[in-house]
Formats: sequence, C-alpha cells, structure tokens
Amino acid sequence: MAKPRISSIDGKLAEEFAVPSHVEEVKEKMAAFARRHVAAGRRVVLITSGGTKVPLESRTVRFLDNFSSGRRGASSAEYFMDSGYAVIFLHRHRSLYPYARMFSNINMLDALKFSGGGGASSSNSGEVVVNQQVLPNIAKALKRYQEVTEGELLLPVEFSTLSEYLHLLKAAAKALSTIGSEAMFYLAAAVSDFYIPASEMPEHKIQSSNGPLQLSLNMVPKILSPLVKDWAPRAFVISFKLETDAAILLDKARRALDTYRHQVVVANVLDSRRGYVVVVTPETQAELIITEEDVKNDVEIEERIVSNLTSAHNKFITQ
Ligand code: PMT
Repeated sequence: MAKPRISSIDGKLAEEFAVPSHVEEVKEKMAAFARRHVAAGRRVVLITSGGTKVPLESRTVRFLDNFSSGRRGASSAEYFMDSGYAVIFLHRHRSLYPYARMFSNINMLDALKFSGGGGASSSNSGEVVVNQQVLPNIAKALKRYQEVTEGELLLPVEFSTLSEYLHLLKAAAKALSTIGSEAMFYLAAAVSDFYIPASEMPEHKIQSSNGPLQLSLNMVPKILSPLVKDWAPRAFVISFKLETDAAILLDKARRALDTYRHQVVVANVLDSRRGYVVVVTPETQAELIITEEDVKNDVEIEERIVSNLTSAHNKFITQ
C-alpha cells in the first residue's frame, strides 16, 4: 500500500518545534465547531491574529517579538460574524480580542464606580456602576458579545510562542479540511520568519557576563505551502503581506500568489495599514481606502476587507 505523503515541513515541524500538549484536544474542538456550523448553513473562517514570540532560552527569560497588536484580526472577527460566519480565532495570548478591543486602553477601575459603605475596613457589599462616558459604546459591544457567545459563533484558541502557532494552525487546517470550500483561512498574524531550533537553544538564562551576544537564527518553514497543497486543499485562503517599503509591496504580493497558489493576498504597509490595503488576486487588484469622513463615521478598513472577501468566497464556492 502507498505510504501517505509527508511533506518535509511536516517532518521539520515535528522535529524542531515543541508540540503543545493540548493540540489534539483543540483540533477535535475545532472540527466539531466546523461540522456544527456548516450543518447549520454557516461558513467558517479561521483567523490568525497577533505576533509570535521566539524564545532565546528553553527556560525562557528573553524572546524576540514583533509589533502586531492583533487589531486587524480582532476587528475582522466581528465583521465576519456580522456577515454570518462562525469564527475560529487563533490569537496571540493578550493580543486584542473581539469587542473587548475597543476598551483596551481604558483602566477598568476608572470606568466603574462603587457605591456602598465607606472606609477600608467596612463591608464590600454595595453596587458597582458602569460609567458609560468612560466606556463609550459598552452597551452595544456587550450586547453583541453576548449574542455571539450564546450562539457559540466564536471559538477562541490562544498561542504564545511560534511553536504553538505553527502546530495549532496545522491542527486547524486539518480540522477544517473536512468542510472543504466552506472554510476560509484569514492569516493576519505577523509570524516570525526566524527562530532558534530547540536543539540549539541554551537551557538556562544567557549570561551577560559572557559578553556581547551573537545570534544565529534559522528560517521558519513557510507554512502556507503545506496548508494550501496538503492540509486544506479545497479551502479559500487569504494571506497578508506586510512591508515597510511601499515600492516592493505589490510585487511581493504577486510573487506570494505565484509561489503558494492560494486565492488572495491582502497587501499593506506598516504605517498606513489602518487606512489603505490592496486586495490582490491572480486576476484582480482592488484598493480599499478609509477617508477622513469614514474615520469620523467610525468606519474601519476591516469592514471593507471582510465585505470584499466574503463576496470573493461566494464566487469561489459557486465556481
Ligand atoms: O495586528 P495589527 O497591529 O492590526 O497589524 C496587522 C498586520 C499588519 C500584522 C496584518 O495586516 C498583516 O499584514 N499580517 C501579516 C504580516 C506578515 O508577517 O507578513 P509576511 O509576509 O511575513 O507573511 C506572509 C503570510 O504568511 C502572512 O499571512 C502570515 O500570517 C503567513 N505566515 C508567515 C510565516 C509563517 N511561517 N507562517 C505563516 O503562516
């Protein structure tokens, strides 16, 4: 009997990136979530969100990180649920979270007022009142959050390290392969391209008494390749391309489509990413722009991105 095809990336993942102990359990949860929603007539999107942490020591004191706040992923999750999708939200621990993201810069204690007995030693019984001026739109956000939670439309899955991200994404891809083209992958996470393999990592804290530190980092395998070819070959896949130099952005986006043969690249530049992106497909190129007027009306670019992609997903399924 022919052996199942094992891509070299599968082998590398197993050998060089520690497998999280809960990966099989999470995979089963994701598969059940997808089956249930597809049976109820919904499509399912897997969103990756936030940056990754690359440890320098196995008992980690120091790590390499990146800029991503997770806002793109968190706000897109809300618009996908508004469009009728169920969302698996594979996000970096403590990065921005759907609905809560709007209040991430607010100190909760400034937004609540305790009205009860005075004095440090007196009873804690009394009322806690929300100041809606400090938390604008809290009622709207809370109502929608409760709706999506009660409808079980949002399945949050957390990662911290690069290893966790890679294994959980693979598990998600395999879990969603059972729903074929009803699945969308929206890979908005900013994933490290470099890492130190477990076999080359010092166990203990690197000592500064040894003098200046020189690091040699290996290349992280390009996970898009097995995802598109082997793990979820019928899914609708969107990757993101981030550059700081706008002059090379579109060329890089097109090259990604040529290399990985997936459906869409959303191209953005670091400084303008909240107001301008280009949605690139093998045949088309659409600029999405947020004007000052849009900002005044609280229109976010993710609403436009999601609207563009849900239409494209429709076409992909019918074709
Ligand atoms: O989180 P925010 O602050 O809101 O910012 C949003 C964002 C700028 C992070 C987002 O819009 C974005 O552009 N994310 C992708 C950035 C990136 O790392 O691009 P890349 O060219 O390195 O990677 C290309 C694609 O492959 C990405 O979809 C990435 O998620 C994916 N990838 C990359 C490497 C890897 N080993 N595995 C991957 O899946």
